[in-house]
Formats: sequence, structure tokens, C-alpha cells
Amino acid sequence: MNTPRRILVTSALPYANGPIHLGHLVEYIQTDVWARFQRMRGHQCFYVCADDAHGTPIMLKAREHGIAPEDQIQRVWAEHTADFARFGIGFDHYHTTHSPENRHFAELIYTRLRDAGHIARRSIRQAYDPSQKMFLPDRFIKGECPRCGAADQYGDSCEVCGATYAPTDLKNPVSVLSGATPEERDSEHYFFRLADFEPMLRRWIDDGALQGAVRHKLAEWFDAGLSDWDISRDAPYFGFEIPDAPGKYFYVWLDAPIGYMASFQALCEQREDLVFEDFWAPGTDTELYHFIGKDIAYFHTLFWPAMLHGAGFRMPTAVFAHGFLTVNGQKMSKSRGTFIRAETFARHLTPEYLRYYFAAKLGPEVEDIDLNLEDFAARVNADLVGKLANIASRCAGFITKRFDGKLGAVLIGGADPQRSGDHVDSLTFDLMQAADEIAACYEQREYARAMRRIMALADAVNAYVDQKKPWELAKNPADAAQLHIVTSIALNAFRLLILYLKPVLPAMAEAAEHFLNIPPLTWNDAASLLPTGHAIGVYQHLARRIEPDALARLVADSTEAASRTTAPEEVPAIAPIAPTIGIEDFSRIDLRIARIASAEHVEGADKLLRLQLDLGGERRQVFAGIKAAYRPEELVGRLTIMVANLASRQMKFGLSEGMVLAAGDGKGIFLLSPDQGAEPGMRVK
Ligand code: 2FM
Ligand code: ZN
Repeated sequence: MNTPRRILVTSALPYANGPIHLGHLVEYIQTDVWARFQRMRGHQCFYVCADDAHGTPIMLKAREHGIAPEDQIQRVWAEHTADFARFGIGFDHYHTTHSPENRHFAELIYTRLRDAGHIARRSIRQAYDPSQKMFLPDRFIKGECPRCGAADQYGDSCEVCGATYAPTDLKNPVSVLSGATPEERDSEHYFFRLADFEPMLRRWIDDGALQGAVRHKLAEWFDAGLSDWDISRDAPYFGFEIPDAPGKYFYVWLDAPIGYMASFQALCEQREDLVFEDFWAPGTDTELYHFIGKDIAYFHTLFWPAMLHGAGFRMPTAVFAHGFLTVNGQKMSKSRGTFIRAETFARHLTPEYLRYYFAAKLGPEVEDIDLNLEDFAARVNADLVGKLANIASRCAGFITKRFDGKLGAVLIGGADPQRSGDHVDSLTFDLMQAADEIAACYEQREYARAMRRIMALADAVNAYVDQKKPWELAKNPADAAQLHIVTSIALNAFRLLILYLKPVLPAMAEAAEHFLNIPPLTWNDAASLLPTGHAIGVYQHLARRIEPDALARLVADSTEAASRTTAPEEVPAIAPIAPTIGIEDFSRIDLRIARIASAEHVEGADKLLRLQLDLGGERRQVFAGIKAAYRPEELVGRLTIMVANLASRQMKFGLSEGMVLAAGDGKGIFLLSPDQGAEPGMRVK
């Protein structure tokens, strides 16, 4: 291994006024796969992000909900982080731009730019809503297109003829907020003089920080001339006030990318081994990469590097732009049920399957990708269930039943004569050899190529198993040694395939590591095999087929979710739903009906009652934190539900041998009871 690299990666910050949907997830999955890969290689790689919490739409959304913007962004932060957890997006830190760290860096960068002469001030004329007493962003004005006359067009462009114009050009304009006719008013604005940085930006681009398509776009922008960027907005605005300008606020896009720094700073505050300057001072050898969508390249390849440079910070090592997501070949649409929220997807399908599908489609260029739902199901079923999991499910049982769970010898053969042995095995050799090529694919964000290569290897392993027919070998005691070799080769091959897929399928890899009884796989592990005699665990299903009706339900639910309003009074104020688990996780919990045989106070305990539970023969003592809600005498004789296989816990008052189930979120305690007819000892499923 070469010297470990030190890398900081980011994804674009999602706005704090809407849910995470599958379009967003393309980017978070792409970034997360890359970060996980780098860590598997032994590099230090930090992945930070945050909610983009400022701006007029968020201010207005909070107003519409009748809550403070701070409460609005807090609520969305909880939803976003729960969604990311569902999809295995492993941020090292997830922050918000409405934070002290972000205010600090926004003010610092602004004052440095101002003191160096890169900020200009001048008055501009803008549309103003006299009834709402605020200036109107382009999207909040509608009127007739100045070119084709189409009614009901936004202030920046016409959806009918495609013309772009200034909001002041609209005919018969109205404020979207109030319906009032906007006035024109003058106000002083602050501008960042981007053109000051043109020579330095050209040099940065020549250093290879950008993809070809983005470089071309930049050449066009340079040709058109770099104009000043308006970085201020008038009150009322939800954001940070500009230090020397009362009533003026930083435009949301000024402090949004600064959120990358703020999030990393917050991470540094949690970790003693991390120093902010190591990653942000000029001349550092740490690497900084921004993953973004193609629509926000202007901000990340012009404004942001110029701001960083002008304020004395390092520039990004590279910016990686990706394309948009279409679903079934079209733009995501609420009415077609293809505007799919992360949370809705996770309710119907295993989130990791989406990670795999996106990986199988993603390349290094700025191309759109399509999620075709039928193709998605077919590919997951063929690759993850039919090819990958199938290898382990076909071979593990023989090792467990016939060889006491222990693997046999696998000698690597193939093209390397030095290493060939009795059981010359070129399959294993090929699999191990592929490590460098697959690593290069991940490094270059050639995930689709990596997935193709890995699945071709899985095909070879399955062909090997088909040819050796372990189920036939198992019939003849004389073939036992051969059976041991074949199944051991297959399981070693399975381990390597899982290793190669681990950046994409972290949860499945963890389950496979558990089954194989091995520590977490790293990339170096591709250079070795499991030793002879290694004991594996018992195989449990690693992947289940997607049934067609799951897709139909997803689409139906997405049509419904889109039509539901999200006004807070209608949103049940519940704690976020925990990350999805598989049925196999759930079935490990043994829930039983229990009769409360006795209940009594516990001396010295404020919250606990001691319960003796009858499980239809077996007795358990359980200390339950329900004293605030129940008197002991009202509990005796009633049925409830308990976790019967929870490890016993020695408490100050005695041994607690399980747990009774109760609902409650700080609003009371409600013990669960079964319906009439249930009997002690019955399993609850
Ligand atoms: O386009 C967006 O969704 C923005 N919220 C992205 C901000 S990325 C970065 F600059 F903060
Ligand atoms: Zn028009």
C-alpha cells in the first residue's frame, strides 16, 4: 500500500424545505460509494454535508406552516438524516448552514474579499411587493411572456417559447405571494467581482480539476464574460446579516458552499485528531472533492473556487458533476407516481438495491441516468439474488453439515506457475487478480464498469459450481474431499465478490462478514484467502427477490405521497422511523404472550415495577419502567407481550429476564395487550 491519502469529500447540500427523493440519492450514493472505497483502501476519507437552510423559499415555507424558520429547518434536518441513514449514506458529519460555524466562515470570507477589494456596491432596480413589503425573487413573479405573450409565466423564463428575460420585462406582472402588481424599487446590493479571478480560474481548470463537458461549458462562460455576482438580499430574508450592512443579508448561495467548511469544522470539534487547516489552508496536500449535479456547476467551478482563493483558502482538487435522474425514461413526475421519495422507496424495497442499480449505471461523465423500474427489479433479481447470494446459498450448507463448518484447502493456480498446487484453481487466481482493475474503476468513478466486471466474475463462479455439481458429489462418500474443495473454492470466491461490492452494498457485506465469521473486509484482503480450517457461520438469506407487486405499490404510494400536503398541522409529530430492517432481523426477536402473574413495587426504584410473567409454563422476572402509569394490583392477571429472548440483565434490584412492550413517546406509557383468545406462550409474529 502506498502512503495513505487524506481526503475530504462533499455532496451538494439539499434545501431544508422538501424531502429527499431518488433524484437526490444519485449523488449521495455516488459520493458515499467513493468515500467507502477510499476507506477500504486504507486512506483517511471524510465525507461531510449539511442542510442548505437559508433563502426566501424556506422563509415562505415556514410562514405557510405558521412556524419559525428555525423550527422548519430543524424538522427537515431530522427527516433528511433519517432518509440518509436508510440508504447507508455514511456521513462523518451532517450539519446545517444555519449554524455558528457557518456564520463565522461566511463573515470571514466576506470581510477578506471586501478588504481585498473584491466586493462592489451599487443600486439596482427590482420588483417589490408593496402588500408583502418585500422584494420578489424572479420565481415569485408571474405574468405574460414578453416574446410570445403566453400567460402565467415566471419572471425568469417562458415555459412556452423558451425565452429568457428579466422579471421587469414581463407584461401585466403579479406577485405570486399576494396577487398584487409589483412596483419597481431601487435598493443597494453587494456584488462579488468574479472577473478579478479569471486568470487564476483558467490556471485551476488547466490543472485538470474538471470533466471535459464541464470544461467546455466553462469556455463558453469565459467567452460570454464573467459578470459581477449579486451576493446580497434585502430584509425580510432568512439568512445571515452582512456584517457592515444592516438590513442586508447574504444570498443563500453565498453561504451554501461555505457550509462544506462549516460542517468539517464541526467535525473537527468532535475529533481531536483532525485539524481544520490541514484540509483548508493553501498548499496543503490533503485532497478536496465536491460531488455535484450538472445544474450547479457555475457555482462550484467559478464562484466557489474564486471565493476560496480570494479569501486565502485552498481550492478544490476537483469537482465531479453528474447528470440527472429520469424514471422510466421521463422526468420524475408526481402524477405518474415516479417522483419517488427516499422514505417511500425504503418502505417498499431494500434501499441497498437502489445503491446497486445506480452503481450499475453510473460512469465518470456528466450523463443522465435512467431508473427503469422493471429493469431495476430484473437486474437486482438476476445479479444480487441469482448470481451473488446464490453462490453462498448453494455451497454453505455442505460446509456446515458435512465438514463441521470448516473450510478446506484452496490452492491458487492459474496463470501463476509459482503458486499452483495440487488443486490448481485458476478461478480463484482470476478473482484475486481482478482487485487492481476493479479498484481503478472505483477510483475513476467508473462504477458501471466495476459492476460489469464483478458480475462477470460471479458468472464464472456460478459456472464453476454448475460444472462441479457439489449436490452430486455429496451423494457419494468417496467424493467428500472433492466436495470440500469445490465448496471451499466457491465460498472463498464469494468472499472476494463481497469484498469488491462492499463500497456499494455495505449492509449486505456486513451480513456476509458475519456469515463468513471474518472481521470487516478491507481492500488488502483481496490478496489472501480464508485459511484451511476456518470456521464459517450459518448461512442466512442475504438477498431476496423483488416481487412485481412491490413496484406497483411503490408507484401507487408515490402518487399518493405527492398529493398529500405536508403542512405541519397534518404531519403527525412522530419520532423519525428507524432505518429499514429485513424480515430476518425482525424474526430474531422472539415475542411471546405473557400473563402477569404478580406485580409489586420495588424498594428504592422510582420508575420500576417487578413483574413475574407466566409464559405458559416458564416463568420470567422482569423489571418494567411502568410505575408512573400503572398500579401493581391492576396489572395482575392481564396479558401482555414480552421480548422473551432478550439477554438477561443484572440490575441493582435483581435479574431482569426480558422486557414487556409498551407504547409511549414522553406522552404517557401504554402497555400492549393481545386480542381475546391469545394464550400465554404464544409466539407474536
Ligand atoms: O441546488 C441545490 O439544491 C442547493 N441547495 C445546493 C447547494 S450545494 C452547495 F453549494 F452548498
Ligand atoms: Zn414565451
